[in-house]
Amino acid sequence: MRILLAASEAVPFAKTGGLADVASGLTKALALRGHDVTLVLPYYRQAMPESIWRQPTGRFIEVSLRDQQVRAGVVESRIEGSDARVLLIDHPHYFDRSGLYVEQESDYPDNCERFCAFSRFVMEAAKSFQLQPDVIHANDWQTGLVPALQQVEYRQQPGFENAAAVLTIHNLAYQGAFWQQDMHLTGLSDAYFNWNQMEHYGQINLLKTGIVFSDAVTTVSPTYAREIQTNAFGCGLEGVLQHHCSKLTGILNGVDVDLWNPETDPAIPMPYSKETVQHGKAACKKRLQQHFNLPEQKFTPLCGMISRMSEQKGFDLIQECINDLLREDVQLVFLGTGDSRYEDFVRDLTMKRPDKVAATIGFDEALAHQIEAGSDIYLMPSRFEPCGLNQMYSQAYGTVPVVNAVGGLVDSVIDCTPETLADRIATGFQFHDYTSSAFLARLKDALAAYREDDVWNVLVENGMSCDWSWNRSAEIYEQTYERAITNLPNNPY
Ligand code: ADP
Ligand code: GLC
Repeated sequence: MRILLAASEAVPFAKTGGLADVASGLTKALALRGHDVTLVLPYYRQAMPESIWRQPTGRFIEVSLRDQQVRAGVVESRIEGSDARVLLIDHPHYFDRSGLYVEQESDYPDNCERFCAFSRFVMEAAKSFQLQPDVIHANDWQTGLVPALQQVEYRQQPGFENAAAVLTIHNLAYQGAFWQQDMHLTGLSDAYFNWNQMEHYGQINLLKTGIVFSDAVTTVSPTYAREIQTNAFGCGLEGVLQHHCSKLTGILNGVDVDLWNPETDPAIPMPYSKETVQHGKAACKKRLQQHFNLPEQKFTPLCGMISRMSEQKGFDLIQECINDLLREDVQLVFLGTGDSRYEDFVRDLTMKRPDKVAATIGFDEALAHQIEAGSDIYLMPSRFEPCGLNQMYSQAYGTVPVVNAVGGLVDSVIDCTPETLADRIATGFQFHDYTSSAFLARLKDALAAYREDDVWNVLVENGMSCDWSWNRSAEIYEQTYERAITNLPNNPY
C-alpha cells in the first residue's frame, strides 16, 4: 500500500508527548512490513537536533489561505531503521517557534491558521511528490482538516481518487476548537459549518471534522474506544462518536523496541536483559540516586514518573496522599513539565523532602530512559489515558507500573491478583476508583510486594516477557486501511 501519514510531531524531529513516539513508530513498522510510507511533519527547525539528516528538496508548495497564496519549502529526511520518507514542511513563520503549540502556558493565537495551513500543505505535498496514496492517515486535531480536504476537494483530483481517509484520535481532550470567525481559514464553504459536520457548540471543531469526514477512525486502545462513547470520557464528542461508531476501532499502540530496549539502550548506565535484570537495575538505580542526590538506599523502593504535568496525569491524587505516602520507606523521582501548579507542587516537595523526593522540571529524553531503567515502580495514576506509553516502557524495563484502570492502562497492564500471579501473567497494579485513597492503597500493595522477592521477580519477569513491538498493531492498522479502501464509494478493488 502507499500510505501517507500526517502528524504534528514525531521522534526524533520534535516531541511533546506520546503522539511523537507513535507517529514515527507506526511509520517505521508499516515501512518494514513492505509498504511505501511517507510521513509529513511541520519543520520545527529550532526543535530539531542538528544530528538528524535532512536535505532541502528544492521544491516549494503553495496553498491558498485567506485568498492569498502561502508558500512553504519541503525538506526531506528519513525514519532511521527503515526506508520511510519524511517530508518536513518548512514555513518558518508558522513552525520555527520555541514551542510546538504553546508558549508560557498559552496556546499560540494563530494555531487554527497554522494547522489548517499545515493540513493543506500535506495534501499539496502529496500532489507535488506524486505520492498517489491508497491511504491518507491523519492524527489528532492538528491534522483533522485533512480527511475533510480529501473528501471535499481532492478525491476528484488525479492521484487521490482511490485514497481512503483515516483519522487516529490520540487524545479527545484536545479538539482544536476555535471561534466561528476562523472558518474561512479552513478554505471550505461555510455550508460545512453545521452540527453534523464541522461545528460543535458554536465553534469550529477540527477533531470532530476529522471524525465526520474520515472513512475510518481509530483510537489508541480498545478500552478508550469504548470509553469515548460515554459521557464520562467523551469530552462532549460522545454523541458524534456514537453516531460514527461503525467506523471506530481501538488499536493499542506499540513500542519502538529499537529505541526502548534495556539490552541496547545507550542512555542507561548498564544495559540488562530479563536474565540480568537484578544486577543491571541495581546499577541503574544507584546511578539514578546519585544523579538526583538521593540517599543510595539499595532496598528502598524507588518510584518514577515521567509525564506532561497536566490534569490528565493524576497529579492531584499524588498531591492528596503525599504526606501518607512519604511515611513509607520510599523514594520518588519526577520528570516533567506543564501546568505551573503541578510544577510548583513537585518543586516544593523536593525542597521539603530532599531525602525522599527529587525532580527535574523540564524535558529530557535521556533522563526519561534512565528513570525507566533505575526505578522499581512506575506511577501512572491518570484520570484518563487513551493508551499511555510509559507503562509499556516500564514493563519492558522490569519496572512495575501502578495505574488507574482506564483506557490503554487496562489493556496493557495485567493486575496483580492471587490468580494472575499463579498464572504468571500479572505485570502491575491497577486501582479502580479515581481517588487518592484507592491509589495509595494499591501503591502500598506494590510496596509490600516489592519486599517479597518471589512475587516481585515474577512481576518483573512477566512484564519483560511481553511483546510490545509494533508488529501486531501495525497489522491491525493494515486491516483497518484495507476495510476503509474497500468501503470507498468507487472502490476499484
Ligand atoms: P502523553 O502522550 O499523554 O503525554 P504517553 O504516555 O503516551 O502520554 O507518552 C508520553 C511520552 O512523552 C513518553 O515517551 C514519555 O517518556 C515522554 N515524556 C513526557 N514528559 C517527558 C519529559 N518531561 N521528558 C522526557 N520525556 C517525556
Ligand atoms: C496521547 C495520549 C496517550 C497516548 C498518546 C499516543 O497524547 O494522552 O495516552 O499514548 O497520545 O497515542
